[in-house]
Amino acid sequence: MAVNIIGLDIGTSSMKLVCLKQTKKLTSLKSFAIVPLPTESIVDGALMNTSAISDSLVKILKEVKVKTKNVALSISGHSVFVRFIRTTTVNDDELEEHIKWDAESYIPVNINDVYIDFQKLTGVPDQSGEIEVLLVAAKRNMVDEYDQLVKSIGLKPAIVDIDAFALQNVYEFNYPNRYNDENVVIINIGSAITNINIIEKGISKFVRDISIGGMEVTEAVSQYYGLSVEEAENIKLGALQGDSNLVNSKELHGIYEDVASRIAGEILQTIDYYRTQAAGDDIDRLYLSGGGSKVELITKRLGESSGIQVEYLNPFNNINIDPRMFNIDFIRENGILATVAVGLALRKVES
Ligand SMILES: Nc1ncnc2c1ncn2[C@@H]1O[C@H](COP(=O)(O)OP(=O)(O)OP(=O)(O)O)[C@@H](O)[C@H]1O
Ligand SMILES: [Mg+2]
Repeated sequence: MAVNIIGLDIGTSSMKLVCLKQTKKLTSLKSFAIVPLPTESIVDGALMNTSAISDSLVKILKEVKVKTKNVALSISGHSVFVRFIRTTTVNDDELEEHIKWDAESYIPVNINDVYIDFQKLTGVPDQSGEIEVLLVAAKRNMVDEYDQLVKSIGLKPAIVDIDAFALQNVYEFNYPNRYNDENVVIINIGSAITNINIIEKGISKFVRDISIGGMEVTEAVSQYYGLSVEEAENIKLGALQGDSNLVNSKELHGIYEDVASRIAGEILQTIDYYRTQAAGDDIDRLYLSGGGSKVELITKRLGESSGIQVEYLNPFNNINIDPRMFNIDFIRENGILATVAVGLALRKVES
């Protein structure tokens, strides 16, 4: 029987937890919480300050009081490698051997240092006799750290996913009528990492994490005004809500212009890289998510420079939220930060 699972996204700037109740007819939100993490607790997806992270984990669990111990986690950044491989080896057993032997030609690390998983994307060979296989490799030490962290507070790590696929899961679940028809790019702009997943008619074609995010904006403000990162972050959040009189708003706008163009430029460069390599179909839509996407100038620049329609990915589009249980304004404001956590909470674990 499928049981509930805690979707836990441990991000660079905050931890997000989502629990859902899924019946045949309806999926409803059961728990939603966000707890900030101290600066530099996580760097490039690696856990740097485990005691601070574990304190936040205890705090978030207290806030939501969930019964289940099963957790779905996800990882991202430079320790995760996603590759799309073409091979003439189609037999399942041979494929496993082939991938193990050949993995080092696809990923830049020693095979013994990574956990490997793969999945056939096409069952039937194409004209050149090849099938497409998705290869995912993740550094063992990083996965083990997450595993130990969660176990240390009595939870059971049932699933370790990667951010980009959790995002795809959210898109599939919330936009079922579009999923198999559209060619889209999902862009999750976090604090330090931006996840990109290019999906053509329901099939992922390209996945990449780039080291850029909302933190760039904070750092630019911090450098320009000689402020601490915390002070700059407060100005950023306040200023973007239009209530900061601490700094000259024209100057601040200039900084945002610069950083937004740079972030949008890097994201579009990555998408262009895929399009020149793979000569894929035209892209119908860019879906944005993550806290960094709340900087409206980034969204604006992405739309202007690409000429592609940009839309926010609503992680609760197809999820029922009881207004007696949740503060709807809070969810409207912060839901975009919870996309990965929703994707994880949608995963099913067999008991
Ligand atoms: N209202 C807002 N306006 C502008 N930026 C915001 C707003 N709310 C959050 N952010 C920014 O969004 C970023 C956090 O987003 P998110 O929670 O998606 O990242 P994360 O998951 O913690 O980090 P990562 O995915 O990079 O590990 C921070 O840089 C934060 O300053
Ligand atoms: Mg994130």
